[in-house]
Amino acid sequence: MAFMQWDDQYSVGIKVIDDQHKRLFAMIQDFYDQMRQKHTREGISTLLKGLADYSLYHFNSEEALMTRHQYPGYLQHKNEHTKFIQKVEEFRLRFDSGQLLIPIEIAEFLKTWLSNHILKTDQQFAPFLREIGVK
Ligand code: FEO
Repeated sequence: MAFMQWDDQYSVGIKVIDDQHKRLFAMIQDFYDQMRQKHTREGISTLLKGLADYSLYHFNSEEALMTRHQYPGYLQHKNEHTKFIQKVEEFRLRFDSGQLLIPIEIAEFLKTWLSNHILKTDQQFAPFLREIGVK
């Protein structure tokens, strides 16, 4: 079942960023699929670690573009990234320590956060980059 589905509204018009976003969509879909099937605590934890790691890689890519081109909204954007990584790490640590966490709520959080962040925050800085010729 499609839980996290890419469509053109998410495109920011910069290939490297779109490709990374598509990968994040696929990872969240994978998290959802594995959670719906028979999953283990270790499996969920490993997926969350992978998501945190790849998100960090993606955020570093965006932040490098923002600093290189002196994007004025850099600090606010970076702050959103930092909070997301902290939240995913918090989920993972709580999950690992056996605290009650319902995986579907984590999946919903990931989906909602990424969708909103792309549609609002990433879509704000992408035109700035496109105007100066970043593709
Ligand atoms: Fe695509 Fe700002 O994360």
